[in-house]
Amino acid sequence: MAKRSTAAPFASVPLEDSSSTPLYYQVYQRLRAAILLGQLSPGTRLPSTRQMANDLGVSRNTLMSAFDQLIAEGYVEGRVGSGTFVSPTLPEELLEARLKTKPSLQIQSDQRSLSARGKVLEKTCVTVARRAPGKIRPFIPGIPALDEFPMSLWSRLVARHWRDESRGLLNYGPAAGYMPLREAIAAYLGPSRGVQCKPDQIVIVSGTQQALDLAARVLLDTGDSILVEEYCYSAARAALIGAGAHLVPVKVDDAGLDISDHSASSSNARVAYVTPSHQYPLGVTMSLPRRLALLDWANRTCAWILEDDYDSEYRYVARPLAALQGLDKSGRVIYIGTFSKVLFPSLRIGYMVVPSDLVEAFVRARAAVGWCCPFIDQAVLADFISEGHFTRHIRRMRSLYAERQQALIGALHREAGDLLEVNRTDAGIHVLGLLPDHVDDQAVATEAAAQGIVAHPLSAFFLGEAALAQRGLVLGYGAYNVRQLREGVSKLTIALKTVARNSRNQDSRNLRVRSLIA
Ligand SMILES: Cc1ncc(COP(=O)(O)O)c(C=O)c1O
Repeated sequence: MAKRSTAAPFASVPLEDSSSTPLYYQVYQRLRAAILLGQLSPGTRLPSTRQMANDLGVSRNTLMSAFDQLIAEGYVEGRVGSGTFVSPTLPEELLEARLKTKPSLQIQSDQRSLSARGKVLEKTCVTVARRAPGKIRPFIPGIPALDEFPMSLWSRLVARHWRDESRGLLNYGPAAGYMPLREAIAAYLGPSRGVQCKPDQIVIVSGTQQALDLAARVLLDTGDSILVEEYCYSAARAALIGAGAHLVPVKVDDAGLDISDHSASSSNARVAYVTPSHQYPLGVTMSLPRRLALLDWANRTCAWILEDDYDSEYRYVARPLAALQGLDKSGRVIYIGTFSKVLFPSLRIGYMVVPSDLVEAFVRARAAVGWCCPFIDQAVLADFISEGHFTRHIRRMRSLYAERQQALIGALHREAGDLLEVNRTDAGIHVLGLLPDHVDDQAVATEAAAQGIVAHPLSAFFLGEAALAQRGLVLGYGAYNVRQLREGVSKLTIALKTVARNSRNQDSRNLRVRSLIA
């Protein structure tokens, strides 16, 4: 039989009308405390709401709100027709019981450890995962001119699809992607990049990052070797290592990756990852003989080539060389494109052009890892391309980037010409500045950060022996207007001069020490 509450311990102290805590919450706290302290024991029937409201000097509505909260949290329960009772099992007891039966919080830390692959991912993706969203400042590379993106046009296309009463785009769609988008991409790639493909060879992915992850999963076993350019895009490196690949750096010079390099020929790599149109970060274009040699290697050794064509749309001088994929007669190239540079990176849409015999494997793998990108975004993008906005946008951006590049290089020559050797680049949205050997690029990056700008040190991209790394800075210009670029250069010049002065002082100190020893 239910115990009847006789006293009203919760009513001994008056409630505070002037408190910022609402009255109902104060009542809730009182009752909860009385229950937890055992003043109202499990099974106790609470007085009627009318009586309690009187005892506490509050309205019945206030009291009911407090009861609702207690019922929702499991402290009291209402039985139809017989009143409200303190629950026989309180939430705290449930929690304690769970802790007693489940010793998971006390288990050894090694039992909570990550998988071997999890540990690798945790280590390799540090800088990638730290990319702060929204914080754009010179000279973060790889960001296009977000200030010039045609927002209102894009939002009109988005609205068009959200108004579509058929709601077909709300359902699951094909894992390979939205067919009109695949058709639009195939139609664009032929004439602009010399890529030979049919729409059904195109698999839509969440950017290059996912393309590399998929390719490594589908083509490599854990521990298999993959050839990469010795200066390598860090997020690509993270994706490949994260997928279990063993990276073999191969020499790059002003003609691009050299497949005759000993490290390539002595490895038994099954895949090579390259950026032939515009090597990242060095900015060189792979020459035709090097392209043919690379294709020949893939053909001879039955290897695959992952061609990352991340910013080929932006070429300022001659027409770009045709993609490797277009030169490939044996179906050994997987071409990877992205809309991150040409539109905006948070779109997270890219694509792979896959040899016909691999399509099924890639589509199934794509289904296994996230299915596909949002179909409404794909449909908007398909319209953007097929209605001609895409090529217009590229044309407009090409002249804007040429202007921004010129402004950056001009300012660097004027202010820091004696410390940084920077040349005009034919493509892309970043330039490379080379430093004298005695100036440490990591130190410049640190000084630049203190000035509020970002200058990525070239040596951080180098996968070979650290002492052999060239010193330089990778400076993005796509996202910054001429004023921001000039201000950025002034700050960079201060950083460069500080580091150069410190290293000269250090040199002369070393000389003095050496002469003392002698
Ligand atoms: C070499 C390279 N590939 C690809 C990308 C784009 O990656 P995603 O498509 O995942 O945004 C970048 C961006 O900076 C890059 O530098």
